Amino acid sequence: MKKRPVVVVTRRLPDVIETRLRELFDTRLNLEDKPLSAEELSEAVKTADVLVPTITDEIDAGVIGQAGPNLKLIANFGNGVDNIDVSAAVAKSITVTNTPGVLTEDTADMTMALILAVARRIPEGARVIPDGDWAGWSPTWMLGRRITGKRLGIVGMGRIGQALARRAKAFGLSIHYHNRRHVPPKIETELEATYWESLDQMLARMDIVSVNCPHTPATYHLLSARRLKLMKPDAILVNTARGEIIDEGALTKLIEAGAIAGAGLDVFEEEPAVNPRLVRLAKQGKVVLLPHMGSATHEGRVAMGEKVIVNIRAFVDGHKPPDRVLPSML
Ligand code: 8YV
Repeated sequence: MKKRPVVVVTRRLPDVIETRLRELFDTRLNLEDKPLSAEELSEAVKTADVLVPTITDEIDAGVIGQAGPNLKLIANFGNGVDNIDVSAAVAKSITVTNTPGVLTEDTADMTMALILAVARRIPEGARVIPDGDWAGWSPTWMLGRRITGKRLGIVGMGRIGQALARRAKAFGLSIHYHNRRHVPPKIETELEATYWESLDQMLARMDIVSVNCPHTPATYHLLSARRLKLMKPDAILVNTARGEIIDEGALTKLIEAGAIAGAGLDVFEEEPAVNPRLVRLAKQGKVVLLPHMGSATHEGRVAMGEKVIVNIRAFVDGHKPPDRVLPSML
């Protein structure tokens, strides 16, 4: 590939990252920060040597089919690659990379924050004073649920799941997890974590369930209506991974019916659209909804941008980029 490839970036990135991308490559930025339309995306893949998309770009087989002969690398600004048809890309000899590792701690922090927000009713409480509704303290008002001593079931014990487990352990929760395989014994011992081979059995026994696995064809609606019904009525569910992993319609109905106590969601099935019934539940204080903020820190976004740059540079220099994604990993 040429030393100054045409790099098309689909959204605004932190200033330092955009500046460096411009120094290094023939970079085309999206200064308006509006998600690209289908036509603009099609134009981008036709002209680019390297495409830097984000979760707001659906790079499906159709888009990849329109790619020009120069497109050799899709360097995703993001860890999850469910916005990209990786098999279609690889079949067309296009390499795909992502940005793993640098958003682990931020996402785990946000997951812990959501657990506390739902259990201790933080957003509801935070509205009381600004709304002028505080008549004074009362022993029986704004009571939430204690998290210390409760059971946390983590669905997906990768980097983020483990980082959440470390935090939750410090909060006095007991750690349970379901994963394709056991984590190494050293980590299981450190976290005092219990492995559940059966997701069904784990769900039925947890006070708090957190979804931390990637969205792949195998995890689509992993938390199906049938599985959600196994949860305890006083349990809460949090999701900072991907909306598609939970049957959101079924979850909404179960919360409305009082069959699940509440939920903390940072991700949704049809982002940025959110089911109006979930919004109603948020207004009632039963769910806490965040607009996909899990990795939204200045530090995290710069580190993600740096990973993108390192991946492009390695590729341009003829090396295997460090964060290559292969269909077999998904
Ligand atoms: C990003 C994420 O906001 O990296 C991920 O997988 O979900 C988020 O942290 C987004 O994906 C950026 O493209």
